[in-house]
Amino acid sequence: MINKKLLLVATSNPGKVKEMLEYLADFGWELQLKPDELEIEETGDTFIANACLKASEVAKATGKWAIADDSGLTVDALNGRPGIYSARYGKTDSDRIERLLTELGNEQNRKAQFVCAIAVASPHGAIAIEVEGKCDGEILYNPKGSSGFGYDPIFYVPTQQKTFAEMTPEEKRSHSHRGQAFQILLPQLDRIAIV
Ligand code: IMP
Repeated sequence: MINKKLLLVATSNPGKVKEMLEYLADFGWELQLKPDELEIEETGDTFIANACLKASEVAKATGKWAIADDSGLTVDALNGRPGIYSARYGKTDSDRIERLLTELGNEQNRKAQFVCAIAVASPHGAIAIEVEGKCDGEILYNPKGSSGFGYDPIFYVPTQQKTFAEMTPEEKRSHSHRGQAFQILLPQLDRIAIV
């Protein structure tokens, strides 16, 4: 029998698969890491372009349905930086946070958005679904909270009066850019499962 609910995840990072499973497992989706030897360079200039590129390449190379995401933080006063370069903004999370806070200095406009793009490609590499989730927030002057990862301690969500790093995993899931993207994605994925 063909497994119609299997997706290859275009990442070598088991943490990312675990995170995606938290959104998808309840709906019967099974996820598998892409083959290790298959490396895809993120050459796109938008989040969605990079997600599509990764999903499409993995699908073509494996002949299976594939899913990929690309995410990051865009800061208004920095003309959208670090954006697609969020992961490459420094060697460690604290380097990245320090660089961002230094670049922003005493700038009064602290508005920022977290963005998460997700793409799903058919076994021929055609993009079947592309979605984008966003979460509006503000960059604090100093980190606050100890949960999560990446830029979480400096990303404050005014509607919740907390940083991402002060939220429980459930709270973050329901308010985050990734949570929003998966909410849009899930009903569309169901359509693929019945094709
Ligand atoms: P990628 O999507 O794996 O290419 O990496 C995106 C980068 O953006 C991560 O390395 C983090 O620095 C940052 N990022 C994406 N999502 C989050 C989040 O939910 N919290 C904190 N940082 C994030």
